[in-house]
Amino acid sequence: MSTADRDAGHGTALRAGTGSRDAERARWAPERFAFGCDYNPEQWDPAVWQEDVVLMREAGIDLVAVNVFGWSDVEPEPGRYDFSRLDAVVELLHAHGIGINLGTGTASPPPWLSALHPETLPVMADGTTRWPGGRQAYCPSSPVFRERAAALVEQVARRYGAHPGVRLWHVSNELGCHNSLCYCDTTAAAFRAWLRARYGTVEALNRAWGTSFWSQRYSSFDEVLPPRLTVSSANPSQALDFHRFSSDELLGLYRAEAEVIRRHSDIPVTTNFMVTAHQRDMDYFAWAPDMDVVANDHYLDHRLEDPLVELAFAGDTTRGIAGGRPWLLMEHSTSAVNWQPVNVAKTPGEMLRVSLAHVARGADGVCFFQWRASVQGSEKFHSALLPHAGTSSRTWHEVLELGRTLEALRDVVGSTVRSDVALVFSYEAWWAADGGNRPSEHVRYLEQVHALYRALRDAGLAVDVVPPGAAPEVLARYRMLVVPELYLVRDAEAAAIEQYVADGGHALVTFFSGIVDEDDRVRLGGYPGAFRDLLGVVADEFHPLLPGQTLTLDSGSQGSLWTEQLRTVTAKAVAHAVDGPLPGTPVITRNEHGRGTAWYVATALDPVHAADLVREVAHHAGASPMPGAGPLVEVVRRAHDDGASFLFVINHSDDVVEVPVRGRELTQDVDVETLHVPAGAVRVVREDVTP
Ligand code: GAL
Repeated sequence: MSTADRDAGHGTALRAGTGSRDAERARWAPERFAFGCDYNPEQWDPAVWQEDVVLMREAGIDLVAVNVFGWSDVEPEPGRYDFSRLDAVVELLHAHGIGINLGTGTASPPPWLSALHPETLPVMADGTTRWPGGRQAYCPSSPVFRERAAALVEQVARRYGAHPGVRLWHVSNELGCHNSLCYCDTTAAAFRAWLRARYGTVEALNRAWGTSFWSQRYSSFDEVLPPRLTVSSANPSQALDFHRFSSDELLGLYRAEAEVIRRHSDIPVTTNFMVTAHQRDMDYFAWAPDMDVVANDHYLDHRLEDPLVELAFAGDTTRGIAGGRPWLLMEHSTSAVNWQPVNVAKTPGEMLRVSLAHVARGADGVCFFQWRASVQGSEKFHSALLPHAGTSSRTWHEVLELGRTLEALRDVVGSTVRSDVALVFSYEAWWAADGGNRPSEHVRYLEQVHALYRALRDAGLAVDVVPPGAAPEVLARYRMLVVPELYLVRDAEAAAIEQYVADGGHALVTFFSGIVDEDDRVRLGGYPGAFRDLLGVVADEFHPLLPGQTLTLDSGSQGSLWTEQLRTVTAKAVAHAVDGPLPGTPVITRNEHGRGTAWYVATALDPVHAADLVREVAHHAGASPMPGAGPLVEVVRRAHDDGASFLFVINHSDDVVEVPVRGRELTQDVDVETLHVPAGAVRVVREDVTP
């Protein structure tokens, strides 16, 4: 990857955008909802394929991902390609009118690669190698891997690049899913090259990393290593840059493949992101400009307190990453997965609700992993569209119902979501804030983001998710901006948030925000650093709370995790601590700043009062909740530019829900004056009057 490529990656791509490239490229813009799945026919006898395509047609499946893990099948020996099986599958799908989402096949190298080149295997921070036998066992920086992958893509793209059945290119698979951070010597060399391009001189690197601390000063780039396991705590700025580098390195893999494909094909290119709670290593805001459509994989995570909150947040974040444009749900599951401690199966109706929760948040396609449940391999107990039990199963009938529902919602395709509220979300802040040696390891970035998002959702507010580098004209669209734990913030980003408020906006900032600059250097003069003037407060010291310790506020709210020695400067105190380490100290404040208002919350509020506070701020800001929305009822509106609008109501509760909306309900095809949504059901109304 050239320096220019690297520059276009982390830190600049997101901020500068790649508008010109955008304009030239094919966009994925389906006329009806894509309904699809991963298909692994190499696991089955060709006789089964005939049944597969017939059933796919019956369900209305029209986008099938093949060759995702095909490498060892199409290149059984180095340089010997055998496309006979893939040709047959591609022709079969095409003959049945089923569109192909064609994998480049590079997701998992065959055993021959690591046998010939053991140096391609990934190495962990402790120096141990990860071996073949699973998947994705390669170092993202390996030139050997890159060369062999490019050779394979060249073959695949040349062969199928103009095939009329191919609708979309699927580069690799979930780049970085298992191998996002490699610490081998090859990576070390690539990291040094990246650092040279970023800093120019080793003195600049020393300054950025604060290496005068603990005698860490480098005299040459050649001495620098990835942040391998150390005997004491490691340099946090080094770790932060390693995250930036690793995200860029994986984006480089995508770019290399996309470049080969585009030489042979005009078909849109993408890869599947993992905007989920368990993947933080790729800064997808920086990746998105390279995608012809943003695609996401999402699985309900039952390890979390509220998996549905996380799903909604992931959907809104994916839409934010896509710049508000429709996106594609490339994978989710009909029922249980196979990789959580307990793999919870979906209850009747849940698959439809979850699918439409993604659609409501901007997905123009719903795809699954996978078509037919495997009988061998580690995923044999993962759900599929066609389970082990076959077509008599409830799952299969729900798949047919989902296909019919998506068809009934056809007019929604291409519409977008508009929200009054934006939440600032930052991968960099996540990397830096959770880096260790901080005031409390119980304060975790994503949990704080989810807590504030949950408060907004409980208050019925529709939310867009924006990166901290969002341009002022983007921020100006919102009545309210929420900024959870933005620990790391660049000067320009903080200035944009301040300007937003000065121009009349309303911001809600939560604790441990504005603390460090982009090098993880503390901002002096008192916390919350970059946001002191905006918030009109200053704190001398943090007083994190022990697990289980709570804080009572004179507003009746309860806090946990955090408090700080806060003083108001220009702000007014809204609530004070009545107990805890600092009784009488302001905990919630409000500051008039320019023509707007900025609120600060210096504790982790209990969910009920967090939602109350959000309601209050929204009321001041003039941000309206969605009709009927609440913790168990999702209400989201998608609209076309011409004003046609669709209200999605997803009822996760056990009660009938009533929503005041008039129009045509599309799933039942009836007119409604007031919408009644049965327990567990989803309804979508094409609204009579644009609100
Ligand atoms: C995804 C992956 C799929 C499949 C799925 C199982 O991470 O892309 O290939 O493994 O998980 O949930």
